[in-house]
Amino acid sequence: MKGIILAGGLATRLYPLTHATNKHLLPVFDQPMIYYPIMTLVSAGIDDVIVVTGGPHAGHFLPVLRNGKDFGLRHLEYTYQANNGGIAEALGLCEEFADGEPVCVILGDNTTDADIRPSVEQFSGGATIFLKAVPDPQRFGCPVFDPDDPQKIVRIEEKPANPQSNYAVTGLYIYDGGVFDIVRTLTPSDRGELEITDVNNRYLEQGTLSWVELSGFWSDAGTFESLYRTNRYWAEKKSAASSL
Ligand code: G1P
Repeated sequence: MKGIILAGGLATRLYPLTHATNKHLLPVFDQPMIYYPIMTLVSAGIDDVIVVTGGPHAGHFLPVLRNGKDFGLRHLEYTYQANNGGIAEALGLCEEFADGEPVCVILGDNTTDADIRPSVEQFSGGATIFLKAVPDPQRFGCPVFDPDDPQKIVRIEEKPANPQSNYAVTGLYIYDGGVFDIVRTLTPSDRGELEITDVNNRYLEQGTLSWVELSGFWSDAGTFESLYRTNRYWAEKKSAASSL
């Protein structure tokens, strides 16, 4: 399986920090943010990775990640998202890289200490999404479960005003090679983006979407509050580990 890290966007919610560099290079305790999703992929046995970036600071990734060997990557490549067309548009740029293989996609501002290796190893087609219970599901893609079968997702709503569950669809996804055909059929949402939630709903309609609840810590880091929470978690975890 190949890995895709989505690290584009202007991150205007983090201005003035992101006037200076790309969000995914901001510090999370002692490392640039993007180190964490890279290590999530490497820990799952994925060593062939593409980073999709964008915006005015795209060149900042090269001196930080170089050729990826420091992280245990066998191959690292980069591509550039020229428009702010959304997560699914960024994914669509990776079709040649994927070359028909399944892909594990992770948003570059999502950090977790969950081990996704079992899901990567057991993946046998369709899509796998990862859920996490959160206090603010209205900020995320949010699954609606079947009242008669609480294991069954009937649809996923993107940032619903009235969330039907307390789960976030996290920014980790596993897709089979068919995902690029789905992306090609998408139309922009009200916010003018190709939505990853629309991709997931398409797999749901096909009956080939499965889900896993992430264990351990997970957060995005696109706002000052979530960036602070993420920093605090990793600072405490790493400090505790180093004082053992
Ligand atoms: C995006 C997705 C959303 C997902 C979230 C995870 O949101 O659209 O479905 O739950 O990432 O971090 P956004 O980047 O717009 O906050």
